[in-house]
Amino acid sequence: MENHQLILVLDFGGQYNQLIARRVREHNVYCEVKPYHTSLDEIRALRPIGIIFTGGPNSVYEASSPKCDPALFELGIPVLGICYGCQLMAQVLGGEVTAAQDDTAREYGKTKTYYDTSCKLFKGLPGEGISWMSHGDYMAQVPAGFALVGHTDMCPNVAIADETRGFYGVQYHPEVNHTESGTQMLRNFLYEVCGAKGDWTMEDYKRTSIQAIRDKVGAGKVLLALSGGVDSSVAAALLAEAVGKQLTCVFVDHGLMRKNEGDEVEAAFAKWDINFIRVDAEARFLGRLAGVSDPETKRKIIGEEFIRVFEQEGKKIGQVDYLVQGTIYPDVIESGAGDAATIKSHHNVGGLPDFVDFKEIIEPLRLLFKDEVRELGREIGLADYLVMRQPFPGPGLAIRVIGDITKDKLDTLREADFIFRDEIAKAGLERTMDQYFAVLTNMRSVGVMGDGRTYDYTLALRSVTTTDFMTADWARIPHEVLDKVSVRIVNEVKGINRIVYDITSKPPATIEWE
Ligand code: XMP
Repeated sequence: MENHQLILVLDFGGQYNQLIARRVREHNVYCEVKPYHTSLDEIRALRPIGIIFTGGPNSVYEASSPKCDPALFELGIPVLGICYGCQLMAQVLGGEVTAAQDDTAREYGKTKTYYDTSCKLFKGLPGEGISWMSHGDYMAQVPAGFALVGHTDMCPNVAIADETRGFYGVQYHPEVNHTESGTQMLRNFLYEVCGAKGDWTMEDYKRTSIQAIRDKVGAGKVLLALSGGVDSSVAAALLAEAVGKQLTCVFVDHGLMRKNEGDEVEAAFAKWDINFIRVDAEARFLGRLAGVSDPETKRKIIGEEFIRVFEQEGKKIGQVDYLVQGTIYPDVIESGAGDAATIKSHHNVGGLPDFVDFKEIIEPLRLLFKDEVRELGREIGLADYLVMRQPFPGPGLAIRVIGDITKDKLDTLREADFIFRDEIAKAGLERTMDQYFAVLTNMRSVGVMGDGRTYDYTLALRSVTTTDFMTADWARIPHEVLDKVSVRIVNEVKGINRIVYDITSKPPATIEWE
Protein backbone atom coordinates (compact mmCIF):
# COMPACT_ATOMS: atom_id res chain seq x y z
CA MET A 1 0.00 0.00 0.00
CA GLU A 2 1.89 2.95 -1.28
CA ASN A 3 0.26 5.56 0.87
CA HIS A 4 0.93 3.76 4.13
CA GLN A 5 4.03 3.52 6.22
CA LEU A 6 5.51 0.04 6.01
CA ILE A 7 7.21 -2.27 8.46
CA LEU A 8 9.04 -5.10 6.72
CA VAL A 9 9.20 -8.48 8.44
CA LEU A 10 12.05 -10.59 7.07
CA ASP A 11 11.18 -14.25 7.47
CA PHE A 12 13.96 -16.56 8.63
CA GLY A 13 11.66 -19.57 8.90
CA GLY A 14 10.31 -19.21 12.43
CA GLN A 15 6.91 -20.44 13.48
CA TYR A 16 5.57 -17.10 14.72
CA ASN A 17 6.27 -14.97 11.65
CA GLN A 18 2.70 -14.24 10.67
CA LEU A 19 1.91 -13.55 14.27
CA ILE A 20 4.55 -10.83 14.32
CA ALA A 21 2.98 -9.23 11.27
CA ARG A 22 -0.49 -9.38 12.77
CA ARG A 23 0.74 -7.85 16.00
CA VAL A 24 2.29 -4.98 14.07
CA ARG A 25 -0.95 -4.37 12.21
CA GLU A 26 -2.91 -4.47 15.45
CA HIS A 27 -0.96 -1.34 16.29
CA ASN A 28 -2.32 0.27 13.11
CA VAL A 29 0.93 0.00 11.20
CA TYR A 30 0.94 -1.73 7.82
CA CYS A 31 3.35 -4.60 7.56
CA GLU A 32 4.50 -7.13 4.99
CA VAL A 33 6.33 -10.43 5.37
CA LYS A 34 9.08 -11.18 2.85
CA PRO A 35 11.61 -14.01 2.64
CA TYR A 36 14.97 -13.37 4.28
CA HIS A 37 16.71 -13.38 0.87
CA THR A 38 14.73 -10.39 -0.42
CA SER A 39 17.24 -8.24 -2.28
CA LEU A 40 18.57 -4.99 -0.95
CA ASP A 41 17.22 -3.18 -3.99
CA GLU A 42 13.74 -4.46 -3.34
CA ILE A 43 13.98 -3.49 0.32
CA ARG A 44 15.12 0.00 -0.63
CA ALA A 45 12.26 0.34 -3.08
CA LEU A 46 9.73 -0.62 -0.40
CA ARG A 47 11.00 2.21 1.81
CA PRO A 48 10.14 0.56 5.15
CA ILE A 49 10.25 2.67 8.29
CA GLY A 50 11.57 -0.35 10.18
CA ILE A 51 12.60 -3.96 9.67
CA ILE A 52 11.93 -6.94 11.93
CA PHE A 53 14.02 -10.12 11.66
CA THR A 54 12.01 -13.13 12.74
CA GLY A 55 13.14 -16.19 14.65
CA GLY A 56 14.07 -19.37 12.84
CA PRO A 57 15.03 -22.98 13.48
CA ASN A 58 18.70 -22.68 12.48
CA SER A 59 21.87 -21.66 14.27
CA VAL A 60 23.63 -18.62 12.82
CA TYR A 61 27.07 -20.25 13.00
CA GLU A 62 26.05 -23.08 10.64
CA ALA A 63 27.34 -22.48 7.12
CA SER A 64 23.96 -23.21 5.51
CA SER A 65 21.88 -21.04 7.82
CA PRO A 66 19.88 -18.17 6.29
CA LYS A 67 21.80 -14.90 6.29
CA CYS A 68 21.14 -11.30 5.39
CA ASP A 69 23.09 -8.78 3.37
CA PRO A 70 25.35 -6.89 5.85
CA ALA A 71 24.69 -3.74 3.83
CA LEU A 72 21.14 -3.83 5.16
CA PHE A 73 22.50 -2.33 8.36
CA GLU A 74 23.77 0.68 6.43
CA LEU A 75 20.40 1.78 5.09
CA GLY A 76 19.67 3.91 8.12
CA ILE A 77 16.52 1.87 8.87
CA PRO A 78 15.85 0.65 12.44
CA VAL A 79 16.00 -3.12 12.93
CA LEU A 80 14.47 -5.33 15.59
CA GLY A 81 15.89 -8.86 15.70
CA ILE A 82 13.87 -11.55 17.44
CA CYS A 83 15.53 -14.78 18.64
CA TYR A 84 17.42 -16.08 15.57
CA GLY A 85 17.06 -12.59 14.12
CA CYS A 86 18.76 -11.14 17.20
CA GLN A 87 21.63 -13.61 16.97
CA LEU A 88 22.05 -13.00 13.27
CA MET A 89 22.23 -9.26 13.79
CA ALA A 90 24.78 -9.77 16.58
CA GLN A 91 26.91 -11.99 14.38
CA VAL A 92 26.78 -9.80 11.28
CA LEU A 93 27.69 -6.71 13.28
CA GLY A 94 30.79 -8.34 14.78
CA GLY A 95 29.57 -10.18 17.86
CA GLU A 96 29.94 -13.88 18.53
CA VAL A 97 27.22 -16.50 18.79
CA THR A 98 27.87 -20.03 20.02
CA ALA A 99 25.88 -23.07 21.10
CA ALA A 100 25.05 -22.76 24.77
CA GLN A 101 27.34 -25.24 26.50
CA ASP A 102 25.38 -25.59 29.69
CA ASP A 103 22.11 -24.49 31.19
CA THR A 104 23.44 -21.01 31.85
CA ALA A 105 22.32 -19.73 28.53
CA ARG A 106 20.00 -22.22 26.90
CA GLU A 107 16.48 -21.13 27.72
CA TYR A 108 13.06 -22.47 26.85
CA GLY A 109 9.62 -21.41 28.01
CA LYS A 110 8.48 -18.80 30.47
CA THR A 111 11.40 -16.99 32.04
CA LYS A 112 11.56 -14.12 34.48
CA THR A 113 13.28 -11.25 32.70
CA TYR A 114 14.59 -7.84 33.83
CA TYR A 115 14.50 -4.82 31.51
CA ASP A 116 16.29 -1.49 31.39
CA THR A 117 13.34 0.88 31.13
CA SER A 118 15.54 3.77 30.01
CA CYS A 119 15.83 1.92 26.68
CA LYS A 120 13.19 3.05 24.14
CA LEU A 121 12.05 -0.54 23.62
CA PHE A 122 10.94 -0.81 27.24
CA LYS A 123 9.83 2.75 27.79
CA GLY A 124 6.91 3.03 30.20
CA LEU A 125 6.87 -0.71 30.91
CA PRO A 126 7.48 -2.59 34.17
CA GLY A 127 11.16 -3.32 34.89
CA GLU A 128 10.53 -7.05 35.04
CA GLY A 129 8.14 -9.65 33.71
CA ILE A 130 7.83 -13.10 32.20
CA SER A 131 9.17 -13.58 28.70
CA TRP A 132 8.84 -16.54 26.36
CA MET A 133 12.21 -18.01 25.41
CA SER A 134 13.05 -20.65 22.89
CA HIS A 135 16.74 -20.65 22.08
CA GLY A 136 19.68 -23.00 22.45
CA ASP A 137 22.31 -20.50 21.26
CA TYR A 138 24.03 -17.81 23.20
CA MET A 139 25.58 -14.44 22.32
CA ALA A 140 29.04 -15.04 23.78
CA GLN A 141 29.96 -11.51 22.73
CA VAL A 142 27.63 -8.71 21.70
CA PRO A 143 28.78 -6.36 18.94
CA ALA A 144 30.55 -3.07 19.66
CA GLY A 145 28.14 -0.20 20.29
CA PHE A 146 25.45 -2.40 21.83
CA ALA A 147 24.30 -2.06 25.43
CA LEU A 148 22.81 -4.91 27.45
CA VAL A 149 19.23 -3.83 28.16
CA GLY A 150 17.61 -7.04 29.35
CA HIS A 151 18.75 -10.07 31.35
CA THR A 152 17.48 -13.13 33.17
CA ASP A 153 18.88 -14.80 36.27
CA MET A 154 20.78 -17.15 33.97
CA CYS A 155 21.69 -15.00 30.99
CA PRO A 156 23.18 -11.48 31.00
CA ASN A 157 22.19 -10.46 27.47
CA VAL A 158 18.64 -11.42 26.48
CA ALA A 159 18.03 -7.92 25.09
CA ILE A 160 20.60 -5.70 23.39
CA ALA A 161 20.34 -2.24 21.88
CA ASP A 162 22.35 0.22 19.87
CA GLU A 163 20.03 3.17 20.26
CA THR A 164 22.12 5.49 18.13
CA ARG A 165 21.66 3.32 15.07
CA GLY A 166 18.20 2.08 16.04
CA PHE A 167 19.17 -1.60 16.33
CA TYR A 168 17.46 -3.78 18.90
CA GLY A 169 17.67 -7.49 19.56
CA VAL A 170 15.71 -9.75 21.90
CA GLN A 171 16.32 -13.44 22.52
CA TYR A 172 12.72 -14.02 23.57
CA HIS A 173 9.50 -13.76 21.56
CA PRO A 174 7.66 -10.49 22.25
CA GLU A 175 4.92 -11.47 19.77
CA VAL A 176 3.52 -14.41 21.77
CA ASN A 177 0.99 -13.90 24.53
CA HIS A 178 3.21 -15.58 27.11
CA THR A 179 5.57 -12.61 27.03
CA GLU A 180 4.18 -10.01 29.42
CA SER A 181 4.14 -6.54 27.85
CA GLY A 182 5.37 -8.11 24.60
CA THR A 183 2.91 -6.25 22.39
CA GLN A 184 3.82 -2.96 24.09
CA MET A 185 7.49 -3.66 23.32
CA LEU A 186 6.58 -4.07 19.66
CA ARG A 187 4.54 -0.90 19.91
CA ASN A 188 7.53 0.94 21.36
CA PHE A 189 9.67 -0.26 18.49
CA LEU A 190 7.08 1.01 16.01
CA TYR A 191 6.23 4.34 17.61
CA GLU A 192 9.28 5.29 19.70
CA VAL A 193 11.98 3.95 17.39
CA CYS A 194 10.55 3.89 13.85
CA GLY A 195 8.32 6.95 14.12
CA ALA A 196 5.12 5.17 13.13
CA LYS A 197 2.04 7.36 12.65
CA GLY A 198 -0.58 4.59 12.96
CA ASP A 199 -2.02 5.18 9.50
CA TRP A 200 -3.39 1.66 8.89
CA THR A 201 -7.10 1.35 9.71
CA MET A 202 -9.89 -0.66 8.11
CA GLU A 203 -12.02 2.42 7.70
CA ASP A 204 -9.31 3.98 5.60
CA TYR A 205 -8.71 0.71 3.78
CA LYS A 206 -12.39 0.46 2.89
CA ARG A 207 -12.49 3.99 1.51
CA THR A 208 -9.30 3.74 -0.52
CA SER A 209 -10.08 0.27 -1.91
CA ILE A 210 -13.57 1.27 -3.01
CA GLN A 211 -12.09 4.22 -4.84
CA ALA A 212 -9.33 2.07 -6.36
CA ILE A 213 -11.87 -0.52 -7.53
CA ARG A 214 -14.04 2.19 -9.13
CA ASP A 215 -11.04 3.71 -10.88
CA LYS A 216 -9.95 0.37 -12.22
CA VAL A 217 -13.30 -1.12 -13.22
CA GLY A 218 -14.77 1.96 -14.84
CA ALA A 219 -17.92 0.80 -16.62
CA GLY A 220 -16.70 -2.84 -16.83
CA LYS A 221 -18.49 -6.00 -15.75
CA VAL A 222 -17.31 -7.89 -12.70
CA LEU A 223 -17.89 -11.54 -11.84
CA LEU A 224 -17.45 -13.09 -8.43
CA ALA A 225 -17.86 -16.66 -7.14
CA LEU A 226 -19.51 -16.46 -3.78
CA SER A 227 -19.05 -19.42 -1.46
CA GLY A 228 -20.68 -18.00 1.64
CA GLY A 229 -17.38 -18.09 3.49
CA VAL A 230 -16.05 -14.97 5.18
CA ASP A 231 -13.49 -14.07 2.52
CA SER A 232 -15.68 -14.28 -0.57
CA SER A 233 -18.56 -12.61 1.28
CA VAL A 234 -16.46 -9.64 2.33
CA ALA A 235 -14.93 -9.37 -1.14
CA ALA A 236 -18.45 -9.40 -2.59
CA ALA A 237 -19.69 -6.75 -0.18
CA LEU A 238 -16.74 -4.49 -1.01
CA LEU A 239 -17.36 -4.87 -4.74
CA ALA A 240 -21.11 -4.40 -4.28
CA GLU A 241 -20.44 -1.16 -2.46
CA ALA A 242 -17.98 -0.03 -5.13
CA VAL A 243 -19.67 -0.95 -8.41
CA GLY A 244 -23.24 -2.10 -7.57
CA LYS A 245 -25.10 -3.41 -10.61
CA GLN A 246 -21.89 -3.99 -12.59
CA LEU A 247 -21.21 -6.88 -10.23
CA THR A 248 -22.61 -10.37 -10.70
CA CYS A 249 -22.21 -12.78 -7.79
CA VAL A 250 -22.62 -16.43 -8.63
CA PHE A 251 -23.38 -18.48 -5.58
CA VAL A 252 -23.06 -22.16 -6.42
CA ASP A 253 -25.18 -23.99 -3.88
CA HIS A 254 -23.66 -27.45 -4.06
CA GLY A 255 -26.04 -28.92 -1.50
CA LEU A 256 -23.15 -29.51 0.87
CA MET A 257 -23.82 -26.47 3.06
CA ARG A 258 -24.86 -26.47 6.68
CA LYS A 259 -28.48 -26.00 7.73
CA ASN A 260 -30.01 -22.69 6.50
CA GLU A 261 -26.64 -21.51 5.22
CA GLY A 262 -27.62 -20.92 1.61
CA ASP A 263 -30.62 -18.78 2.57
CA GLU A 264 -28.56 -16.78 5.06
CA VAL A 265 -25.98 -15.92 2.43
CA GLU A 266 -28.64 -14.88 -0.05
CA ALA A 267 -30.40 -12.74 2.55
CA ALA A 268 -27.18 -10.94 3.49
CA PHE A 269 -26.78 -9.60 -0.04
CA ALA A 270 -30.39 -8.54 -0.54
CA LYS A 271 -29.59 -4.98 0.54
CA TRP A 272 -27.26 -4.32 -2.38
CA ASP A 273 -28.49 -3.68 -5.87
CA ILE A 274 -26.32 -6.28 -7.60
CA ASN A 275 -26.91 -9.25 -9.86
CA PHE A 276 -27.09 -12.18 -7.52
CA ILE A 277 -27.42 -15.65 -9.02
CA ARG A 278 -27.95 -18.65 -6.79
CA VAL A 279 -27.48 -21.88 -8.68
CA ASP A 280 -29.15 -24.91 -7.19
CA ALA A 281 -26.63 -27.56 -8.16
CA GLU A 282 -27.32 -30.10 -5.45
CA ALA A 283 -28.49 -32.84 -7.77
CA ARG A 284 -25.43 -32.42 -10.00
CA PHE A 285 -22.98 -32.62 -7.15
CA LEU A 286 -24.67 -35.52 -5.39
CA GLY A 287 -24.90 -37.35 -8.69
CA ARG A 288 -21.18 -37.05 -9.30
CA LEU A 289 -20.35 -37.98 -5.72
CA ALA A 290 -22.60 -41.05 -5.58
CA GLY A 291 -20.66 -44.11 -4.43
CA VAL A 292 -17.40 -42.19 -3.94
CA SER A 293 -15.78 -42.69 -0.55
CA ASP A 294 -12.13 -41.72 -1.01
CA PRO A 295 -11.49 -38.27 0.55
CA GLU A 296 -9.12 -36.98 -2.11
CA THR A 297 -11.42 -38.14 -4.92
CA LYS A 298 -14.33 -36.33 -3.28
CA ARG A 299 -12.29 -33.14 -3.09
CA LYS A 300 -11.25 -33.37 -6.74
CA ILE A 301 -14.77 -34.05 -7.98
CA ILE A 302 -16.19 -31.11 -6.05
CA GLY A 303 -13.44 -28.77 -7.22
CA GLU A 304 -13.99 -29.72 -10.87
CA GLU A 305 -17.76 -29.66 -10.72
CA PHE A 306 -17.69 -26.27 -9.09
CA ILE A 307 -15.70 -24.86 -11.94
CA ARG A 308 -18.05 -26.38 -14.53
CA VAL A 309 -21.14 -24.86 -12.92
CA PHE A 310 -19.46 -21.52 -12.52
CA GLU A 311 -18.28 -21.61 -16.10
CA GLN A 312 -21.78 -22.24 -17.41
CA GLU A 313 -23.20 -19.35 -15.43
CA GLY A 314 -20.29 -17.12 -16.41
CA LYS A 315 -20.96 -17.74 -20.09
CA LYS A 316 -24.60 -16.67 -19.69
CA ILE A 317 -23.44 -13.26 -18.54
CA GLY A 318 -21.43 -12.68 -21.68
CA GLN A 319 -18.25 -10.66 -21.73
CA VAL A 320 -16.75 -10.30 -18.27
CA ASP A 321 -14.01 -7.77 -17.68
CA TYR A 322 -12.89 -8.62 -14.17
CA LEU A 323 -12.95 -11.74 -12.06
CA VAL A 324 -12.78 -11.28 -8.29
CA GLN A 325 -10.91 -13.66 -6.02
CA GLY A 326 -11.02 -13.70 -2.25
CA THR A 327 -7.32 -14.41 -1.77
CA ILE A 328 -6.07 -13.22 1.59
CA TYR A 329 -2.59 -12.35 2.82
CA PRO A 330 -1.62 -15.66 4.48
CA ASP A 331 -2.11 -17.30 1.03
CA VAL A 332 0.22 -14.78 -0.53
CA ILE A 333 3.13 -14.82 1.89
CA GLU A 334 6.08 -16.63 0.48
CA SER A 335 7.77 -18.43 3.34
CA GLY A 336 11.48 -18.15 3.92
CA ALA A 337 11.55 -21.78 4.93
CA GLY A 338 10.46 -23.60 1.79
CA ASP A 339 7.26 -25.48 1.08
CA ALA A 340 5.50 -27.81 3.45
CA ALA A 341 4.24 -31.24 2.40
CA THR A 342 0.71 -31.41 0.99
CA ILE A 343 -1.51 -33.20 3.48
CA LYS A 344 -4.84 -32.49 1.78
CA SER A 345 -5.55 -30.85 -1.54
CA HIS A 346 -7.56 -27.83 -0.47
CA HIS A 347 -10.34 -26.74 -2.69
CA ASN A 348 -10.70 -23.03 -2.44
CA VAL A 349 -13.36 -21.23 -4.35
CA GLY A 350 -10.78 -18.49 -4.83
CA GLY A 351 -8.57 -20.73 -6.97
CA LEU A 352 -10.49 -20.69 -10.23
CA PRO A 353 -8.64 -21.34 -13.46
CA ASP A 354 -8.97 -19.26 -16.58
CA PHE A 355 -12.17 -20.56 -18.07
CA VAL A 356 -14.10 -17.39 -18.72
CA ASP A 357 -12.67 -14.63 -20.83
CA PHE A 358 -11.76 -11.74 -18.64
CA LYS A 359 -9.20 -8.98 -18.69
CA GLU A 360 -7.91 -9.10 -15.17
CA ILE A 361 -8.28 -10.57 -11.73
CA ILE A 362 -9.15 -8.34 -8.79
CA GLU A 363 -8.04 -9.51 -5.36
CA PRO A 364 -9.31 -6.85 -2.97
CA LEU A 365 -8.31 -8.72 0.21
CA ARG A 366 -4.84 -9.72 -0.90
CA LEU A 367 -3.18 -7.61 1.76
CA LEU A 368 -5.37 -8.57 4.70
CA PHE A 369 -5.14 -11.07 7.49
CA LYS A 370 -8.30 -12.95 8.43
CA ASP A 371 -9.09 -10.79 11.43
CA GLU A 372 -8.72 -7.70 9.23
CA VAL A 373 -11.06 -9.21 6.64
CA ARG A 374 -13.65 -9.59 9.41
CA GLU A 375 -13.13 -6.04 10.56
CA LEU A 376 -13.51 -4.79 7.00
CA GLY A 377 -16.72 -6.83 6.62
CA ARG A 378 -18.16 -5.17 9.69
CA GLU A 379 -17.04 -1.79 8.41
CA ILE A 380 -19.00 -2.38 5.19
CA GLY A 381 -22.07 -3.47 7.12
CA LEU A 382 -22.19 -7.23 6.67
CA ALA A 383 -24.17 -9.03 9.37
CA ASP A 384 -22.12 -10.24 12.29
CA TYR A 385 -23.13 -13.87 11.87
CA LEU A 386 -21.60 -13.85 8.42
CA VAL A 387 -18.48 -11.95 9.35
CA MET A 388 -17.78 -14.06 12.42
CA ARG A 389 -18.57 -17.31 10.67
CA GLN A 390 -16.08 -20.04 11.47
CA PRO A 391 -14.02 -21.42 8.61
CA PHE A 392 -15.93 -23.88 6.47
CA PRO A 393 -14.09 -26.06 3.96
CA GLY A 394 -14.77 -25.56 0.23
CA PRO A 395 -15.93 -29.20 -0.18
CA GLY A 396 -18.42 -28.58 2.63
CA LEU A 397 -20.17 -31.41 4.40
CA ALA A 398 -18.89 -33.88 1.79
CA ILE A 399 -15.72 -34.29 3.85
CA ARG A 400 -17.71 -34.50 7.09
CA VAL A 401 -19.74 -37.48 5.94
CA ILE A 402 -17.15 -40.20 6.15
CA GLY A 403 -17.31 -42.70 3.33
CA ASP A 404 -19.95 -42.48 0.63
CA ILE A 405 -22.38 -39.56 0.59
CA THR A 406 -26.15 -39.65 0.31
CA LYS A 407 -28.75 -36.93 0.70
CA ASP A 408 -30.13 -38.71 3.76
CA LYS A 409 -26.75 -38.78 5.45
CA LEU A 410 -26.21 -35.10 4.66
CA ASP A 411 -29.60 -34.20 6.12
CA THR A 412 -28.86 -36.23 9.25
CA LEU A 413 -25.52 -34.51 9.66
CA ARG A 414 -27.05 -31.07 9.05
CA GLU A 415 -29.57 -31.56 11.85
CA ALA A 416 -26.98 -32.87 14.30
CA ASP A 417 -24.48 -30.15 13.45
CA PHE A 418 -27.16 -27.52 13.89
CA ILE A 419 -27.98 -28.79 17.39
CA PHE A 420 -24.31 -28.79 18.35
CA ARG A 421 -23.89 -25.19 17.20
CA ASP A 422 -27.14 -24.18 18.83
CA GLU A 423 -26.10 -25.53 22.23
CA ILE A 424 -22.66 -23.97 21.98
CA ALA A 425 -24.32 -20.62 21.30
CA LYS A 426 -26.78 -21.06 24.16
CA ALA A 427 -23.90 -21.84 26.52
CA GLY A 428 -22.17 -18.64 25.33
CA LEU A 429 -19.10 -20.59 24.22
CA GLU A 430 -18.94 -19.52 20.55
CA ARG A 431 -15.96 -17.23 20.95
CA THR A 432 -13.98 -19.68 23.09
CA MET A 433 -13.33 -22.05 20.20
CA ASP A 434 -12.17 -21.47 16.65
CA GLN A 435 -13.97 -24.22 14.80
CA TYR A 436 -16.58 -26.71 15.91
CA PHE A 437 -18.71 -29.10 13.93
CA ALA A 438 -20.15 -32.59 13.71
CA VAL A 439 -18.89 -35.48 11.61
CA LEU A 440 -21.06 -38.38 10.53
CA THR A 441 -18.85 -41.46 10.77
CA ASN A 442 -19.64 -44.49 8.65
CA MET A 443 -19.64 -46.73 11.69
CA ARG A 444 -22.82 -48.17 13.05
CA SER A 445 -23.30 -49.71 16.44
CA VAL A 446 -25.96 -51.32 18.56
CA GLY A 447 -28.06 -49.25 20.91
CA VAL A 448 -31.28 -49.47 22.82
CA MET A 449 -34.08 -46.96 22.57
CA GLY A 450 -37.34 -47.44 24.43
CA ASP A 451 -37.65 -51.19 24.44
CA GLY A 452 -36.12 -51.70 21.05
CA ARG A 453 -32.73 -52.44 19.63
CA THR A 454 -31.20 -49.86 17.29
CA TYR A 455 -28.33 -50.22 14.84
CA ASP A 456 -27.47 -46.65 13.89
CA TYR A 457 -24.64 -44.30 13.06
CA THR A 458 -22.06 -42.85 15.42
CA LEU A 459 -21.70 -39.09 15.28
CA ALA A 460 -18.43 -37.42 16.24
CA LEU A 461 -18.23 -33.90 17.65
CA ARG A 462 -15.08 -31.95 16.87
CA SER A 463 -14.09 -28.62 18.38
CA VAL A 464 -10.70 -26.98 18.34
CA THR A 465 -8.86 -23.92 19.50
CA THR A 466 -6.13 -22.60 17.25
CA THR A 467 -4.58 -19.39 16.01
CA ASP A 468 -3.36 -20.50 12.60
CA PHE A 469 -5.20 -23.78 11.84
CA MET A 470 -1.79 -25.37 11.22
CA THR A 471 -1.74 -26.69 14.75
CA ALA A 472 -4.77 -27.00 17.01
CA ASP A 473 -5.83 -28.29 20.38
CA TRP A 474 -9.18 -29.88 21.16
CA ALA A 475 -11.48 -27.58 23.07
CA ARG A 476 -12.30 -28.37 26.67
CA ILE A 477 -16.08 -28.08 26.35
CA PRO A 478 -17.76 -28.42 29.77
CA HIS A 479 -19.21 -31.90 30.27
CA GLU A 480 -22.68 -30.51 30.98
CA VAL A 481 -22.74 -28.85 27.56
CA LEU A 482 -21.56 -32.04 25.85
CA ASP A 483 -24.25 -33.89 27.74
CA LYS A 484 -26.99 -31.57 26.52
CA VAL A 485 -25.77 -31.85 22.94
CA SER A 486 -25.64 -35.61 23.14
CA VAL A 487 -29.09 -36.00 24.67
CA ARG A 488 -30.65 -33.65 22.14
CA ILE A 489 -29.03 -35.24 19.10
CA VAL A 490 -29.93 -38.84 19.93
CA ASN A 491 -33.47 -37.77 20.75
CA GLU A 492 -34.07 -35.38 17.88
CA VAL A 493 -32.09 -36.81 14.99
CA LYS A 494 -33.15 -40.08 13.47
CA GLY A 495 -30.37 -42.48 12.55
CA ILE A 496 -27.85 -41.57 15.27
CA ASN A 497 -27.60 -43.58 18.47
CA ARG A 498 -24.10 -42.81 19.73
CA ILE A 499 -22.05 -39.61 20.14
CA VAL A 500 -18.29 -39.41 20.63
CA TYR A 501 -16.08 -36.37 21.25
CA ASP A 502 -12.81 -36.11 19.35
CA ILE A 503 -9.95 -35.46 21.80
CA THR A 504 -6.99 -35.41 19.43
CA SER A 505 -4.90 -32.36 18.77
CA LYS A 506 -3.38 -31.39 15.39
CA PRO A 507 -0.88 -32.85 14.82
CA PRO A 508 -1.13 -35.82 14.84
CA ALA A 509 -4.78 -35.58 13.68
CA THR A 510 -6.05 -32.91 11.29
CA ILE A 511 -9.01 -30.67 12.11
CA GLU A 512 -11.34 -32.19 9.53
CA TRP A 513 -11.68 -35.95 9.45
CA GLU A 514 -11.09 -36.26 5.72
P1 XMP B 1 -7.23 -29.62 8.33
O1 XMP B 1 -8.30 -30.66 8.27
O2 XMP B 1 -6.27 -29.68 7.17
O3 XMP B 1 -7.98 -28.22 8.22
O4 XMP B 1 -6.51 -29.62 9.65
C1 XMP B 1 -7.38 -26.99 8.44
C2 XMP B 1 -8.39 -25.91 8.12
O5 XMP B 1 -8.67 -25.89 6.72
C3 XMP B 1 -10.04 -26.13 6.48
N1 XMP B 1 -10.12 -26.94 5.27
C4 XMP B 1 -10.40 -26.45 4.04
N2 XMP B 1 -10.69 -25.19 3.63
N3 XMP B 1 -10.93 -25.94 1.42
C5 XMP B 1 -10.97 -24.96 2.32
O6 XMP B 1 -11.26 -23.82 1.93
C6 XMP B 1 -10.65 -27.24 1.75
O7 XMP B 1 -10.62 -28.11 0.90
C7 XMP B 1 -10.38 -27.49 3.13
N4 XMP B 1 -10.06 -28.62 3.83
C8 XMP B 1 -9.91 -28.25 5.14
C9 XMP B 1 -10.55 -26.81 7.71
O8 XMP B 1 -11.95 -26.63 7.86
C10 XMP B 1 -9.74 -26.14 8.78
O9 XMP B 1 -10.26 -24.87 9.10
